[in-house]
Amino acid sequence: MSTRNEERFAGLLTEAVHTIKRHTSKPIAAVQDELMYALGRETGNPVEYWRKGHIPASQAEFVQLSRELVVRGNLSREWLHRFWGCTDFVGLVEVERELFPAQETARQSLPQRPYERLVGREELTGEILGCLIDEARKGLVAIDGMGGIGKTALAYAVMEQALHGGAFDSAVWVREDAAGPGEGLTYAGTLNAIGLGLGLRDATGRGIAAAEERIAGLLRAQRILLVLDNLETAAEPQAQIAAQVAELLGPHSRALLTSRQRFVHGVYHIHLGGLSSAHGGELLRQEAQARGVVHVAQAGPEELARIVGQTGGSPLALKLAVGQLAYQPADVVAARFQSVRLLQEETDEYARFYRSIFFPSWKLLSGEGRQLLVAMSHFAPGVGGTFPALKAAAGLPIDALAERIDELWRLAFLEIGEASVSSIRYYLHTLTRHFVLSDIVQMG
Ligand SMILES: Nc1ncnc2c1ncn2[C@@H]1O[C@H](COP(=O)(O)OP(=O)(O)OP(=O)(O)O)[C@@H](O)[C@H]1O
Ligand SMILES: [Mg+2]
Repeated sequence: MSTRNEERFAGLLTEAVHTIKRHTSKPIAAVQDELMYALGRETGNPVEYWRKGHIPASQAEFVQLSRELVVRGNLSREWLHRFWGCTDFVGLVEVERELFPAQETARQSLPQRPYERLVGREELTGEILGCLIDEARKGLVAIDGMGGIGKTALAYAVMEQALHGGAFDSAVWVREDAAGPGEGLTYAGTLNAIGLGLGLRDATGRGIAAAEERIAGLLRAQRILLVLDNLETAAEPQAQIAAQVAELLGPHSRALLTSRQRFVHGVYHIHLGGLSSAHGGELLRQEAQARGVVHVAQAGPEELARIVGQTGGSPLALKLAVGQLAYQPADVVAARFQSVRLLQEETDEYARFYRSIFFPSWKLLSGEGRQLLVAMSHFAPGVGGTFPALKAAAGLPIDALAERIDELWRLAFLEIGEASVSSIRYYLHTLTRHFVLSDIVQMG
């Protein structure tokens, strides 16, 4: 425990005792005695001792102390965070939930689940989760691989399991556009986004060093999983941001990163490849069934394997292929997806290749379908908009809108997600949006 933390602890405890004194109009000694009894001690008042900068050695006693102080002094959530930030104890989230039940927790900042059922990534999910909870292996894990290969989907699955299994108290998801639309992520932007996820407004308002201290304190006091998605779009080198974030994590928190750019040094990373032939076939069948493309849903394994082989097992390509297979013969569709496989080892030139597989789907769209798709490209990728927002943006009447949404979905241009139980959101994948905004569409 650093002296600095002990000093901060002493300061915060004293502040709390004084606040209680003011609220109750009792002398300090009486406040401290009452605390002592509440903590189940009869003699030798520990509060006075702790106020000299001795942090309780027992977590149970620290938890009890935090509780008593917050309740008696009507102290803020912010104070509680700072108090825990002086220690290495875990369990802040439970205490926080108990003391501030009406407040939103960090979970609210998480994105919508990007798939209905994740196919063929069970082993990898387990492997990554294993690394993240391995006490001996501190720090972060990265997933790299080409666009559309399933990095975000995998990261989401890992996060969901990590939270459900109780391995982490909560998660903070940092989106590529956290710094603002079109602006690459920076370390300062990352700090702000992490701060927001942890309930701090304008974390960097008092400078980077102050933000680092507050955030590191919170990450020490809880088991938080940070997810930094799409680091290839960052305005600073991804390895640099990764190293800086690793410094903040403390003993219990971890970070999971994704990028189209390969990680090279110092980061435990998994290079994500396409789905196996069997799993790719399963995804094709699943998507075909959902979209009502009967002949694909019922196709034999060899026929499906051929398409999976052509796409290199890229889930995004497979979804687009299903959309096209509803209208065109399998060999025509399969031939066009060859470009995706060639891309497996390249990471920068993906856009050109994807155009060659998006464009045929574009050509299958009706005029109104295109109008809606272009309107949707103005929403943030991965976030999208609600039905009324889509209506306003596309300028289509209600009946036409519903039909066009179905059309875009059938061709796998559009994703449907649940932001909450009562609200459905429609959004585009980053690559789809990229395609819609590209010259090929603008001129077409
Ligand atoms: N294993 C899977 N099972 C089912 N759907 C999947 C799977 N992997 C990915 N998908 C779906 O395929 C699409 C592309 O995946 P995802 O967005 O995760 O790719 P990505 O690698 O993160 O791409 P980018 O580099 O553009 O961010 C998404 O709609 C996603 O939900
Ligand atoms: Mg992604």
